[in-house]
Amino acid sequence: MRYRRQFSVETALLQSRDRQEAGSVVESAGADRTRTKLSSPLRTYAAKLYWPPMNADKKIVTTMFRAPIRPGIELRLLEERHAMAAFALMDRDRDYLREWLAFVDKTRTEEDWRKFVRASLEQFAATEGFTAGIWEGDRFVGVIGTKKIDWLNGKGELGYWIGRADQGRGIVTDACRAVLDYLFRELRLNRVEIHCATGNSRSAAIARRLGFTLEGTRREAELVNGKFYDLWLFSMLKKEWNAVNAGR
Ligand SMILES: CC(C)(COP(=O)(O)OP(=O)(O)OC[C@H]1O[C@@H](n2cnc3c(N)ncnc32)[C@H](O)[C@@H]1OP(=O)(O)O)[C@@H](O)C(=O)NCCC(=O)NCCS
Repeated sequence: MRYRRQFSVETALLQSRDRQEAGSVVESAGADRTRTKLSSPLRTYAAKLYWPPMNADKKIVTTMFRAPIRPGIELRLLEERHAMAAFALMDRDRDYLREWLAFVDKTRTEEDWRKFVRASLEQFAATEGFTAGIWEGDRFVGVIGTKKIDWLNGKGELGYWIGRADQGRGIVTDACRAVLDYLFRELRLNRVEIHCATGNSRSAAIARRLGFTLEGTRREAELVNGKFYDLWLFSMLKKEWNAVNAGR
């Protein structure tokens, strides 16, 4: 009992000292988004005392799940707090995105985005797939994810889009590589598919660039903007992915 009280007093003293030091560091971390001034024992403390980390504008500066795909660009699991940034991008590029994506016309408000995010988080929690935002620093540039995973057959399907201004930079191809690594190596799926309209040459180029095999055409398999489109079915098998990416 006495030991416990002594421990708690010492802990309180230690915490109040660390709070002061850590507080100034967290504030400066908010300004430049680095934590380099924080010594490592204090870093552990600061993480406990100031969670979630916020910048000077009280904005959360970290995220629950992130995966770097190249310097400055990373995937972050979609969360409700990203809804405004994601919806703004979709709304800005609506005309270009709606050409191939049926859900664009159905996504009219930020709340529609929130509903989508909630559904995709439920999917993630159930290990049935996930959706991530593609971020360049603080800029939301696109989306990548899977449809519901078919666990009976060890099979998944990729989907993606990027804002018009960031097309042609190879970002989506790199994002696909990271997600394919995750699907084949972490989730141990056996097969991943990409379905894209036969006229969507940019999407088909991604599948080809990644080494997918074109298996055939699904006739009039998708309805977009009142028109039925033929879809190309591309696939990649785990053994093919591992053979080509063994050194990565
Ligand atoms: C489909 C879509 C995602 C393709 O985007 P994209 O920017 O062409 O794809 P990538 O990010 O992989 O970029 C590839 C381009 O970057 C270039 N590139 C530049 N640097 C590169 C790099 N480091 N690595 C690979 N490619 C690179 C490639 O040469 C290629 O350019 P090209 O089209 O002139 O040949 C995009 O057009 C889109 O969002 N469309 C609307 C939604 C949609 O159709 N989604 C798919 C539904 S199936």
